[in-house]
Amino acid sequence: MNINIPFGKPNISEKEIEGMIKVMESGILVHGQKTKEFEDEFAKRIGTNNAISVSSCTAGLHLSLFVNNIGPGDRVAVPAMTHVSTAHVIELQGAIPVFIDVKKDTGNMDTDILHKESKNGSLKAIMPVHYLGLACEMDTIMNIADESNALVIEDCALSLDGKYGNKKTGSIGDCGCFSFYPVKHMTTIEGGMVTTNNDELAKIIRKSRAFGYNKEMGDRTRPGIYDVDKLGFNYRMNEVEAVVGLNQINKLDDSLIKRKRNYEIIKSYIIKNNLLFIFPDKSLKSISSYYCMNIIYMDVNKNIRNELQDYLKSLNIGTSIHYPSAVPFFTYYRNKYNFKSNEFPVAQMIGERTLSIPLAPHVSEKEAHKIGKALIEFINAL
Ligand SMILES: Cc1ncc(COP(=O)(O)O)c(C=O)c1O
Repeated sequence: MNINIPFGKPNISEKEIEGMIKVMESGILVHGQKTKEFEDEFAKRIGTNNAISVSSCTAGLHLSLFVNNIGPGDRVAVPAMTHVSTAHVIELQGAIPVFIDVKKDTGNMDTDILHKESKNGSLKAIMPVHYLGLACEMDTIMNIADESNALVIEDCALSLDGKYGNKKTGSIGDCGCFSFYPVKHMTTIEGGMVTTNNDELAKIIRKSRAFGYNKEMGDRTRPGIYDVDKLGFNYRMNEVEAVVGLNQINKLDDSLIKRKRNYEIIKSYIIKNNLLFIFPDKSLKSISSYYCMNIIYMDVNKNIRNELQDYLKSLNIGTSIHYPSAVPFFTYYRNKYNFKSNEFPVAQMIGERTLSIPLAPHVSEKEAHKIGKALIEFINAL
């Protein structure tokens, strides 16, 4: 019998559905208590003073640049291998993305290149992306940021519960942005969160996510009366999303155990072939959030990624790719900045060769063995 294993599958149970119905029946769909409760729970989990719910990780990243007045002429460092979201928000602000190639052993920003770029011209912000959930070298990044007086905005879209030393990702830089898109560690359908220990920053992000109103709903003495003293967006999370999030948080501990178990099982097969590179789950002070397991076939003369993806699909094993191109080589960026084709060799190699294997809790122990076996059989038959 075929086992159908998608790359990602939201883990929704009765509690989320009951919660959603209750919220719908209450008539309070935005500006309610659930959003506040969810923010408090999330801040506790990450270990920050504040968490501000938003409509997506992209909204959170955008707000983080916007409220810090990062705009035209400002240079912002971003890894060349990331979701386009991290770079797009820089463009949306009219700032200049300074793409940094990544390290081939982790896929994270190469801090030697970052350091050089910080000497080439001042950086207003650094946006480390914890690739596939493994924290970047945050000590070095924070030192470079201190030297250049740059803000650090962590992109934690794939690193919920990932750790650097004894800190969670999202609690190290000036702020961290999380994604609750359906196949992430937890979902709110769409949604995101900004975490920060800076109370002033939290206050201004809160204000800018809702039009720049000077008073939140509960603080208004007369309904409908407010002033607007700054620009803002409508990047709020609604109450239905928040109640889903509140129930999802409770599943994270179990999810992490299963993700790690699946990683170990699949790895036990893959390490039998030394031409297969697996992105690590630990490095120096970093411990992964086990978002997915990425592999690269190292024979430079043969790129078997697409064949392998098709083979796994034929066995009903879903995969994904993180990410399909170095961001500077997506058409928009290539046309605008005219990068040379050899400028970001590691990011480009990863984009061409990496394959993401599912680890999430919908993958049972038996299915993890099936995936491991399928991978090694395919590779050994080459
Ligand atoms: C690294 C990274 N940053 C940002 C995003 C965007 O997240 P969202 O869809 O919540 O805006 C993603 C989406 O997958 C991502 O992988």
